[in-house]
Amino acid sequence: MQAYRASLLRFDAAGQPVFDQDGLLVVGPDAAGRQRVLDAGAHASVAARHPGVDVTHWPGRILAPGFVDMHVHFPQTDIIGAPSEGLLPWLENYTFPAESRFADPAHAAEVAEVFFDELLRNGVTTSLTFATSHPQSVQAFFEAAQRRRLRMITGKVLQDRHSPDGVRDQTEQSLIDTESLIRQWHNVDRLGYAITPRFAPTSTDAQLRGAGELAAKYPDTWIHSHVAENKDEVKWARELFPGARSYLDVYAGFGLMRERAVYAHCIHFDDDDRRLMRDTATASAVSPTSNLFLGSGFFDFEGADRIGYAYGLASDVGGGTSFSPFSTMMAAYYVGREGQTKPGISIPPSQLWWRHTAGAARALGLEGVIGNLQPGCEADFLVIDPKATPLLARKTSLANNLEELLFAMIVLGDDRLIERTVISQA
Ligand code: GUN
Ligand code: ZN
Repeated sequence: MQAYRASLLRFDAAGQPVFDQDGLLVVGPDAAGRQRVLDAGAHASVAARHPGVDVTHWPGRILAPGFVDMHVHFPQTDIIGAPSEGLLPWLENYTFPAESRFADPAHAAEVAEVFFDELLRNGVTTSLTFATSHPQSVQAFFEAAQRRRLRMITGKVLQDRHSPDGVRDQTEQSLIDTESLIRQWHNVDRLGYAITPRFAPTSTDAQLRGAGELAAKYPDTWIHSHVAENKDEVKWARELFPGARSYLDVYAGFGLMRERAVYAHCIHFDDDDRRLMRDTATASAVSPTSNLFLGSGFFDFEGADRIGYAYGLASDVGGGTSFSPFSTMMAAYYVGREGQTKPGISIPPSQLWWRHTAGAARALGLEGVIGNLQPGCEADFLVIDPKATPLLARKTSLANNLEELLFAMIVLGDDRLIERTVISQA
């Protein structure tokens, strides 16, 4: 058993922040040797329950849950900031050429290490991650994540049409590869498999049908794709699938909407789409830096909250411009202010933070496992130094309440705030 004394940020079941200025986090190993939170709260009361426990004191620091990135592409690490007219030319000119290099296992292994270094430096401890269509990219990712004992999710991308040589896969083999990767990796240590059709326009009906069959056969795997990101993409999808009510409805028709299904973007939706998300318990990965960078549009927070479906925040690197959750939360705030069809909203800082931690974990079906520091959660946590830069030191010391403190870090913060990332089993 081990205890850590510092300020402590957690969230309650309603998504509200719980903050102990002088807090204590007590962790201990479970049967699998993973450190889990045993107790958390105000130092005075928690310490009294654990006499003699070994305490590490980090004065002036904040302990917070590791961030959860609901949608990111590890093979796009090297194409952050590639300028383009929009999504479809960006895919053709930058993304597919970069991803074709992941046929080489050595390249995949090298980029996986760079990717995990970046995630951890930025305080991200779990991500739902696109690999490429090459099974070797998935092997490289899982092997590196397993060595680092991380809770990570990925899957082989399915794209058997409208894709260039080098990334296009073959229908039958792609499904065989997917199933064998599920059997090899899903639920091994802290690893999870996501069935990953890239997006409907690059899969045949047969591939989408096969993906849906695997999703039914392995109901606790994730499903991970993109939808309704860009107007040209929506138009293309509608032409390719004229029988579906909407682009989103294509996925429903192939059995690809259920709990643990996560769709990136979900921008060009109507209320019927939002109800379909809610009624199928499907979640959205909101990727505002990507949407602003690629000129895709704005996620409708008001619409999502009004209908009431699950969503969380995501970087979408390399369409997204930063691995830092602070950048993503800041961009989400801007989109809430200026990108709404209804009058702009001011998303509370604690809500932005929740959407990138416990709220994202809930949207992934991992509530109570990651993204929080309540008893029972795996102890992936951050040691945040709110005085990491001169301006942060000034501004955070002026904060009158928790919302002001969190907002100072969201507005001014980057990887320098993350003094240490502690992994449950490292
Ligand atoms: N739609 C299909 N593939 C991609 C991708 O790699 N990135 C983004 N942002 N959208 C996509
Ligand atoms: Zn994406």
